[in-house]
Amino acid sequence: MKIAVIGTGYVGLVQGVIMSEFGSEVICVDKSDEKIEKLKKGELPIYEPGLLELLHKNQKAKRISFTTDTEEAVKNSEVIFIAVGTPASEDGSADLSALLNVATEIGTYIDSYKVIVNKSTVPVGTGRKVISVIEEQIKHRNENIEFDVVSNPEFLREGKAVGDCLRPNRIVIGTDSEKAREIMAKVYNVLYINATPFLFTNLETAEMIKYASNAFLAVKISFINEIALLAEKVGANTQEIARGMGMDGRISPKFLHCGPGYGGSCFPKDTKAIVEIGKEYGEDMFVISAAIAANEKQKKKMVEKIKNAVGNLSGKVIGVLGLSFKPDTDDMREAPSIDILEGLIKEGAKIQAYCPEGIKEALWRLQDYEESIIYCADEYSIANGADAIVLMTEWNQFRGMDLNKLKKRMRDNYYFDLRNINIKNEKIRQYFKYYPTGEKYVE
Ligand code: UGA
Repeated sequence: MKIAVIGTGYVGLVQGVIMSEFGSEVICVDKSDEKIEKLKKGELPIYEPGLLELLHKNQKAKRISFTTDTEEAVKNSEVIFIAVGTPASEDGSADLSALLNVATEIGTYIDSYKVIVNKSTVPVGTGRKVISVIEEQIKHRNENIEFDVVSNPEFLREGKAVGDCLRPNRIVIGTDSEKAREIMAKVYNVLYINATPFLFTNLETAEMIKYASNAFLAVKISFINEIALLAEKVGANTQEIARGMGMDGRISPKFLHCGPGYGGSCFPKDTKAIVEIGKEYGEDMFVISAAIAANEKQKKKMVEKIKNAVGNLSGKVIGVLGLSFKPDTDDMREAPSIDILEGLIKEGAKIQAYCPEGIKEALWRLQDYEESIIYCADEYSIANGADAIVLMTEWNQFRGMDLNKLKKRMRDNYYFDLRNINIKNEKIRQYFKYYPTGEKYVE
């Protein structure tokens, strides 16, 4: 199949590369010359494990190409994926301007029947908006061209995007058109014959599935984080609580890891957006709103906990392991580390931080605090003269660290394990005043 993907962010790029891997001829479009030039040379603008190898393989096989020319891409494709950003506006609702611009361009250039697929996460009703924008453009040209719009939400996780796209747990296809359904089944032919579950719905249902899934996962995390705060006080163990809860198949143990709060480009944005959609339709989304508030509280609680244990933070040096919102990504969008570092610095602390991939973005996201942060070249240097260590993100390379080597470099020996990576390490308490998350501190 000949496929165009408009927007080469995380979603668009991964989608484009994987569809070329599945055998389609893919042309990826982006407005940014710089990005397209890089991609043409086989360089990725993002860090995503496994993606570079697949890009090179399919570039060599000439199944994937890159352009800034939307017209060329639209005219030469049977299926057009829209994968542009839908960031949160000031009020929390999704900003659809980039998406609707792309719809206008498609309406301007479309010259024969095509399926337009929306991959971006969009409020319910956007698919219908895209239809009317394209129809308007076609009418404007006094032409009569048929097309269909499909909502095909993306469920990939950053850091695991390649695997999630190669082996998705479901493919949701929302459209009223039988013809478009058949074409989409061909687009995902490899998965279709490999028995990946396909769910065919109308446009609105597919759009809601995406928001409802992300909001539910955010609620699950906020729920266990709230339980963790209480567990610390009553002397219970949150990991065991989560295990015990998860043994009930209706609950499942997944996404019940307590931590410093959820971050990333999706959960914070999508939870706020669904609350805004609710307002528009006169429905208060109480549960989701509470999850958002609990997530904000969770980050503040992390600062409070460190301050309560260490005491006055003025002049204290805090070594931070990990900055990205989760491991295996360079993405710092809404990373809990931003608010937590800000909180610690406001209390007078000096930060020494290391992250395998997040520093480049942290440099500008935390630029207001540059005088209080030193970015280190490796994970041991963060401990030099430090009073405390805060394990922020659970990168694998932090799991097997030499605790003695770390401790020897420190001035005091507090260790706040916000992700509980050391909780089962029997030696940790020999070296550190060890504070796990969701479990009482033991001397
Ligand atoms: C999330 C969803 O998991 C994907 O299914 C979805 O496609 C994607 O958003 C999207 O909408 O594009 P992602 O943001 O990449 O994916 O990251 P997750 O792995 O879901 O983690 C999100 C945040 O929750 C991270 O900050 C992570 O540390 C935190 N988390 C996750 C916890 O604190 N505890 C958990 O048990 C799980």
